[in-house]
Amino acid sequence: MACLGENAPPLTAVLGDIEREVTAKNIPMANMSLIERRDYTINCNWKVYIDNYLEGYHIPIAHPGLFREIDYDQYRVETFPTYSRQHAPMRPASDVEALDRDRRFLRTEAEEEALYYWVFPNFMLNFYPDNLQINIILPLGHDSTLTIFEWYFEQPGTGGGWESMQNSIAFSDQVQQEDIEICETVQKGLQSRSYDVGRFSVQRENGVHHFHSLLYHTLSQSIPRR
Ligand SMILES: [Fe+2]
Repeated sequence: MACLGENAPPLTAVLGDIEREVTAKNIPMANMSLIERRDYTINCNWKVYIDNYLEGYHIPIAHPGLFREIDYDQYRVETFPTYSRQHAPMRPASDVEALDRDRRFLRTEAEEEALYYWVFPNFMLNFYPDNLQINIILPLGHDSTLTIFEWYFEQPGTGGGWESMQNSIAFSDQVQQEDIEICETVQKGLQSRSYDVGRFSVQRENGVHHFHSLLYHTLSQSIPRR
């Protein structure tokens, strides 16, 4: 990630406490390597995709598999000057196994918390107990967006380890396909002549409000006033 602007703030200032929090979780970042990249082109505005990422409102409906894995009541978004952090605690294995023995989301049996960071405007870091998935969101047009997913693992492994890693990637791909469907549906809704504006949910969409506040602030500063 690089910014070539003359007045760009230092990267460490933009990333705030992310490095410290990841280090505290003992996530082996330094030993991870790129295992897979997948590109997805989506028929929606790039902001629709970011909006969707920043709220958990749609999880019970759009992501039944993910919904089974996380403690949805504990799901929340915290906002910071240049990024936001989502808390999505995973349910204990015993709870999930009662519902579904196929734990594709997790490669460990321990109760863990995934760390999801969105860095303004278009970069996501998704930390899991043994892997990191990054997303880069690039506008291709007003209604078309390229989303780049990369998966980093510490130990690619063989046999069961390899299969488990592929299951993690496949699960992320499944969630992404579900997000593509909902984002393309939202884009159609935004283009409807009957749609005007709506209010944000204070409880579920504070991250989306934060994104649009940063966007408004940034664009207000970059557009010359007459
Ligand atoms: Fe989603």
